[in-house]
Amino acid sequence: MLRLNEPSRMREWSRSQRSSGRSIALVPTMGAIHAGHLSLVDLAAEHADCVVVSIFVNPAQFGKGEDLGAYPRDLDRDIELLFDLPVEALFLPAESDLYPGDYSTWVEETSISQGWEGASRPDHFRGVTTIVTRLLLAVEPELLVLGQKDAQQVAVISRMIRDLLLPVEVMVGATVRESDGLALSSRNAYLSGDERGQAVCLFEALSEARRLVSGGEVDPVVVTRHMRERIEREPDARIDYLAALDPITFEPVDTIAGRVMFCLAVHIGRTRLIDNDIVTIQSGGDTV
Ligand code: PAF
Repeated sequence: MLRLNEPSRMREWSRSQRSSGRSIALVPTMGAIHAGHLSLVDLAAEHADCVVVSIFVNPAQFGKGEDLGAYPRDLDRDIELLFDLPVEALFLPAESDLYPGDYSTWVEETSISQGWEGASRPDHFRGVTTIVTRLLLAVEPELLVLGQKDAQQVAVISRMIRDLLLPVEVMVGATVRESDGLALSSRNAYLSGDERGQAVCLFEALSEARRLVSGGEVDPVVVTRHMRERIEREPDARIDYLAALDPITFEPVDTIAGRVMFCLAVHIGRTRLIDNDIVTIQSGGDTV
């Protein structure tokens, strides 16, 4: 597994692969690799000749008072986890290469990024779209592989790629969950034992939504009320947002029909977790 630090060396290597006829998939990460990332690597390897994983904890997507300083960083462990996978190159840019002192250029999506995560974390998506654009310019992949857990991030990046005519396809990997349903996240490491038990309420609220919709409920107010009640049973849970949305526009839906995304952000103690589920209601009323 090749390790590349400078963006120019990364691009040189990618171009050499492409000139030998090989397609490239990029899996961008902030490290703290877990089974969710590993499943994205597998997906990438199924669809491209070589896989590049980037590891960079991007300061620009953390707000004031967020967990930039505490964010788990263990490059040796990350490399060990990726070692047996079909990863040909690791892109490990230094902060000084990506953000020199006089850095002053930003990429911003101004519609889908405004609500939900964007409302709770101002400037977060500006940081994400800027770094992803620069990773894409350094790696020049044909395929960008992202995880469904960060659904709004997927929507914002997909819109940016469409709007800027960037020549890359987005592929989305399913959320990987613990056996009780908790979505894998690098931030799960912050949870105490007791909080870890309570954190399953996000998945259980989503499961309750799916159950209600499968039973014929079409009113998003009713469904989200039940979700809220499930979360509020946990003593350390505090809801940031909880909504039934159109999964493309991220606008709230008036009625549950077609494809609806239930999504939520919940603080469990001091840890903020997000999760989502897209329910598809078929013409006969069955759900997928
Ligand atoms: O999802 C993440 O880990 C980050 O937001 C990303 C896409 C690597 C950009 O820093």
